[in-house]
Amino acid sequence: MATTLQLIMLALVGGTLVQANDTDYKLLLTSIVEELEGGLELHLRSSEDGGNDLVQFLMEQEKSSFQISVEQEEIPTRAEIMRHHFFVFEDVHQMQEILTSLVNTDGFYILTLEKIPAEDDVTLKDFAADVWVQHGHSRIYYVQISKESILLYNPFTQSLVVVRDSKTYARIYKDLEGYPLRIYIFDSVYSSVIGDGENNKVLSVTGADAKLAKTVARQLNFTADFLWPDDEFFGGRLPNGEYSGGVGRAHRGEVDIIFAGFFIKDYLTTHIQFSAAVYMDDLCLYVKKAQRIPQSILPLFAVHTDVWLCFLLVGLLGTLVWLILRAVNLVLCIERIPDGSRTTGISYFGAALRIFIDTWVVWVRVNVGRFPPFHSERIFVASLCLVSVIFGALLESSLATVYIRPLYYRDANTLRELDESGQPIYIKHPAFKDDLFYGHDSQVYRRLDAKMKLVAEGEERLIEMVSKRGGFAGVTRSASLQLSDIRYVMTKKVHKIPECPKNYHIAYLLPRPSPYLEEVNRIVLRLVAGGIVNLWTGEAKERAKWSIQRFPEYLAELDVGRWKVLTLSDVQLAFYALTIGCLLSAVVCMAEILLGRKRSALNKIK
Ligand SMILES: *[C@@H]1O[C@H](CO)[C@@H](O)[C@H](O)[C@H]1NC(C)=O
Ligand SMILES: *[C@@H]1O[C@H](CO)[C@@H](O)[C@H](O)[C@H]1NC(C)=O
Repeated sequence: MATTLQLIMLALVGGTLVQANDTDYKLLLTSIVEELEGGLELHLRSSEDGGNDLVQFLMEQEKSSFQISVEQEEIPTRAEIMRHHFFVFEDVHQMQEILTSLVNTDGFYILTLEKIPAEDDVTLKDFAADVWVQHGHSRIYYVQISKESILLYNPFTQSLVVVRDSKTYARIYKDLEGYPLRIYIFDSVYSSVIGDGENNKVLSVTGADAKLAKTVARQLNFTADFLWPDDEFFGGRLPNGEYSGGVGRAHRGEVDIIFAGFFIKDYLTTHIQFSAAVYMDDLCLYVKKAQRIPQSILPLFAVHTDVWLCFLLVGLLGTLVWLILRAVNLVLCIERIPDGSRTTGISYFGAALRIFIDTWVVWVRVNVGRFPPFHSERIFVASLCLVSVIFGALLESSLATVYIRPLYYRDANTLRELDESGQPIYIKHPAFKDDLFYGHDSQVYRRLDAKMKLVAEGEERLIEMVSKRGGFAGVTRSASLQLSDIRYVMTKKVHKIPECPKNYHIAYLLPRPSPYLEEVNRIVLRLVAGGIVNLWTGEAKERAKWSIQRFPEYLAELDVGRWKVLTLSDVQLAFYALTIGCLLSAVVCMAEILLGRKRSALNKIK
């Protein structure tokens, strides 16, 4: 009994499932329409179409905005608030008339067919294929009223897909079934191209960007068809209104995805769009590294000037303290320590001079000839000795370090210092002129902005010119100085000013509109969030650091981690000091001889 009931129930349920509910496809269509951003424009052939079941049903929906236009021939203009379009046709042949106006505006088209002749599915497929070839998109829902079905065209399998839910369109672009996409990668900070120059064919691509491109290709299952790079690299808007380089190719829709990092900023065209941000980078200035301090005066720069000043000051102060102590001792008639020396017959001035000399003798850690005759003074001298030991240790260790590690004169470390140095800034991309300092309140920025000069990068690269000649500053991406140009930094040829004026997010470039954007973003964001992009860029930087080992001439200049053998030239200063001392004593000696002669001559006359 129970089983029969269950069977009947099952039959009933099965029956209702199989039975096509007339409103099902309408509900599906409205759920799709509701998810579309921007309004829907209903293009009706005549006012009679207003009575159409589907039209009525759509208009009952509350969530979307509609606009009704009755003249069908009217071609939808581009920049409109109404992004999506709804048309009603009798059959595919009638639909063919609007083929040219189904341009890719980033909006969807809903094309409704009232009647379906027998061979219609084939013609419908051909029509959809034509749209794909002509306009490069498949954002068209085909609604077959009599069959109560909604179809989409999958350009990658070249077939019509029955729409089951509002996600069907997105699902088509998850698997491109090996479809060839025009991918553009050129030599940039994180990418490089190895190609066959004769046949203009890209053989392979490397770098973090290329790795990411390959991952996206594998995930979306497309074949990357790499375009041959031109000399313009990033490119931009030219004075004649055309666009060059990668920006130009995306602007003209000659490429599907550019996997090279572009700064996210205004390129003065609305026909391109950026993927999700991949990484960040700074725009920095660099100048020629300051000169090395010559060996002859190196010891003077071993410590800061304030240490030298302190050294002098303490010497003088020590004298003063000692003099006060002596005065106090004498005034209070404190008993002298007997040391067998003559104490009478020395003037106050003589005693003060003695104290001055003794202070300095102690201060430079030489044995003092005779200890002072008072206890308090002896204690003071002992403490002075201790301080001098610490000072001496500081000086000696600093001296040792400067001999091992070369010292440079001071580099400009802020933009203000660069401004004060008066160097012009040479740039190679016109875009830097609007990027770097433009539109900033700061006076320093304004002055630096005025100093920028556009130069053509000829045979010699700008950074090479800075490193050799100097006298001006260059602009580059911070990552370039860590990657391809790292040798200039590591061999101390150029100095990057740590204060960088601009920081940018970097992303890939696609034409706009592009059906691939969403899926590319999904994968890019996953790779970024998972830290994989960081790993790849970090790896590139490490590799750049190792690569320096391949250039022996750079290694020789580096002299890092080597023993420094001191030579005669390192002790130059000592000999200079000795020479000066000798000369001075000679002068004094001569003066004394002359004075002595004069005096004896005077005595004789008397
Ligand atoms: C079809 O299904 C909808 C809800 O899904 C229901 O409201 C409607 O009554 C059904 N129509 C028929 C003919 O079964
Ligand atoms: C990728 O595309 C090929 C056709 O080129 C297809 O045979 C394969 O099943 C696809 N792979 C996946 C994972 O979808």
